Order: sequence, then structure tokens, then C-alpha cells
Amino acid sequence: MTDKTSNQMWGGRFAAGPDAIMEAINASIGFDQRMAAQDIAGSRAHAAMLAATGVITNKDAEAIREGLLTVLSEIESGQFQFSTALEDIHMNVEARLKEIIGEPAGRLHTGRSRNDQVATDFKLWVRDQLDAAAKGLEALIGALVEQAEAGAEWVMPGFTHLQVAQPVTWGHHMMAYVEMFGRDLSRVRDARARMNESPLGAAALAGTSFPIDRDMTAAALGFDRPAANSLDAVSDRDFALEFLSVASICAMHLSRFAEELVIWSSAQFRFVTLSDRFSTGSSIMPQKKNPDAAELIRAKVGRIFGANTALMMVMKGLPLAYSKDMQEDKEQVFDAADNWMLALAAMEGMVRDMTANRDSLAAAAGSGFSTATDLADWMVRVLKVPFRDAHHVTGALVAMAEARGVDLPDLSLADMKGVHDGITEDIFSVLGVENSVNSRLSYGGTAPAQVRAQVARWKEILG
Ligand code: ARG
Repeated sequence: MTDKTSNQMWGGRFAAGPDAIMEAINASIGFDQRMAAQDIAGSRAHAAMLAATGVITNKDAEAIREGLLTVLSEIESGQFQFSTALEDIHMNVEARLKEIIGEPAGRLHTGRSRNDQVATDFKLWVRDQLDAAAKGLEALIGALVEQAEAGAEWVMPGFTHLQVAQPVTWGHHMMAYVEMFGRDLSRVRDARARMNESPLGAAALAGTSFPIDRDMTAAALGFDRPAANSLDAVSDRDFALEFLSVASICAMHLSRFAEELVIWSSAQFRFVTLSDRFSTGSSIMPQKKNPDAAELIRAKVGRIFGANTALMMVMKGLPLAYSKDMQEDKEQVFDAADNWMLALAAMEGMVRDMTANRDSLAAAAGSGFSTATDLADWMVRVLKVPFRDAHHVTGALVAMAEARGVDLPDLSLADMKGVHDGITEDIFSVLGVENSVNSRLSYGGTAPAQVRAQVARWKEILG
């Protein structure tokens, strides 16, 4: 007979209960209780299917399905007493169901295992997070598109190597992030479509001899179809890894933008003013207004990518099918998901609230000889000079301006003619930053007309 202290779910062959340390290392209830709603949805679908296929009676299925709703409401209201001895969410729920409805509870686990159960629960949880991420990304993209539309023609310096390169528009810069987050959104959707196969009914690893209907449970849980190989279904965590890698790439984008906001909000740049709502003060320096939200977003990529690496390491040496190592999948994903959603929301808030300082942007736009390429292009276009030669002449003019401490438009026509006598007064028409950006009308270029076209395209996509 079973010792009273042995596990009531699987303790049949055990004479004694686990050591306290065994229980501590084995239990996942401390964290997998986050999947309670998914666990109960999976069990309700399973019970309905068992009745429909005649494996259990309708009466038992009804009692199980009703009882599970009671368990759910107990969990949601915080009354539920989670037990470490019962290891995980699956056994906690089932044990409580037994207390509520008695004998029929013992029929719920027919034709399934915790292995397909946990894979199903976790997939449902990750799928919900992908949906939340899609919403967060859409909101962030919407905020960026608004910024881009407002400042489609505001000039600012464009950088390469963080050195002033050519003037660009604020709208163009905002829309660059729209493209990045747009790719993230499409990766989220791809991942969701690929993961949407139901593990339920794979049972422990080999399938089951009961006449179950896996299509029925798959449909009830919103899956497109049942997973086609039971060994794979219980040992696959690709969906969690894809979630983490999509999250990592997106977090990297968030981090790059956060880095720009940190730089731009500094006293040296003053390109943007972050709102009080998304800034913090210093406890010692009264003048400080710090971009903490941006800094924290910049740091999030570390833990999210860390989670991705950690789960890769957990999975890489596992033989088929389930191994308990896989219980280590959840905390990483939970933490990454929480922080990804928070970072998306914080970035959206910052973008909505921030003010671009149009004057500072414009003043900086012309600095660093940013229209030198326009000068060279003019010589190619008007004087038919080969680009390499035009590049050389322009370099000489930049050196001259630099030596005098002036900008390119401040040089006189005589100065210019001294370097290349073909240059005419018309050159000054391309040296202004507005002209520079307006001329960059190539598809995807920085001209306000191009930016507005991309804004319109995205507004249509967002609906
Ligand atoms: N708590 C387990 C996990 O998270 C559930 C699956 C347990 N399966 C087993 N055969 N012990 O992975």
C-alpha cells in the first residue's frame, strides 16, 4: 500500500515521500501557476472530447468541466491553496478537482499525460504573449507613424559612424524604426502561425490506445491542427525558442532606439525633450532629468537574449522525448515576456509623449558639411564631371571651409571657382539642407514626399 506521505498522483509504487530537497528541486508550482487558465482550458477541451468519443460518460465530463470552472475561479480570486507537494499546476488543479467533484476527477487524465498537457499549456501561454506583443508593436508603430507625419519635413543630421553624414528628415528617421518594428511584427505572426499545432493527445510520448479525437481538442483550443508526431509534440520547445528569438531581435531594435533617445535628450544634442511622465530626477542634482525608461529598455535586451541562450542550452542535449530538464523552459520565457511587453509599452509611451526640438534639429542638420555630397552631385549633374573628381574637388572645399571655421554655403563663388572654375552661382541652390532633403526623392529616400508616401502606406497597413 502507498505510504501516506508519498505523492497522491504518482506515488503508487513509492514507499516514502520525497526528501524536502527533492521536493524543492522538483516542484514547478511556484512559477507554472501562471499557466492555470491555459491548463484548465486544455483540460476542459480534453474532457469534452473524451465524452464525445465515448471514453468517459457525458455526466462525468460535465462534472469535470463544471468543477474545473470552480477551480479556475478559486485561482483567479486568490483563494486557491497551491501545494508544493503536488509539484505543478497540472496536479494541483486535478487534486483540487477531486476534492470538489470526487471520483469523476480521476477520469480526466485518461488518454493524456502531463507531457502533452504541459506542452499544450505552455504553447497556449506563449501564443497569448505573441498576441500581446503584436498589439504592443502595432501601438508603437502607430506612435512612430504619428511622429513621422508631424515631422515629415523637419531636417536633422543623418549619421554614419555617429559622424554627420547627410541631412535627413525627422519623419524619415522615425519611419526607419517603423520598418524595424514592422519586421518584428511579421516575425511574431510567422512564429504564431508555425507554432499553432496542438500537442494534446500525444500523451506521454507514443500516443494512446483510447479512441481520442485530436482534431476536436485542437479546434477547441484554437489550434490549426494536431501536431503530427507524438514524440516531437511532447519534446518540442521550438515555439518557446522562436518566441525568445523574435523577442530578442525586437528588444535589440528597442535598445538601438533607446540609445538614440538617450543621446538625443542630452544637453549636447537637445534633439528631443522627453516628457516628465517618462523621465526621472536625481536625488542629488536638482537640474537633472534622466531618460531612465530609455536606459532600462536598452538593458532589457540582455535578459531577453539571455533567456534565449539559456533555453537553447537546456534543449540542446536532450534525447527524445520528454526530460525533466524541460521544466526549466518556463521561468526564462515568463521573465522575457514580462520585460518585452513592458519595454514595448514604455517605448510607445515615450514616443507618444516626446517633443522633437525642431530648431535644434535644423541647426545641427547643416553642421559637419552635411551637404558636401550635394555639392559633388551638382558637379556631376551640371558640369558632367566624373563623381570621383567631384568628390576630390568637394573635399578641397570642405578643407578650405574647415580651415576658416565656416560652413560650405559661407564660401564665396570666387573661393569655389578657385578650386574648380566650372562652378557657377547655381551651386548655392543645393547647399541648403532643405534643398538637400527635398532632392532625395528616390524610392525610400529622405525627401518629405517619400516619407509621406511611406506614412500613408503604413497607415493603410495599420488600418
Ligand atoms: N512540471 C512539469 C514541467 O513543467 C510537467 C511535466 C511533467 N512530466 C513528467 N513526466 N514528470 O515540465
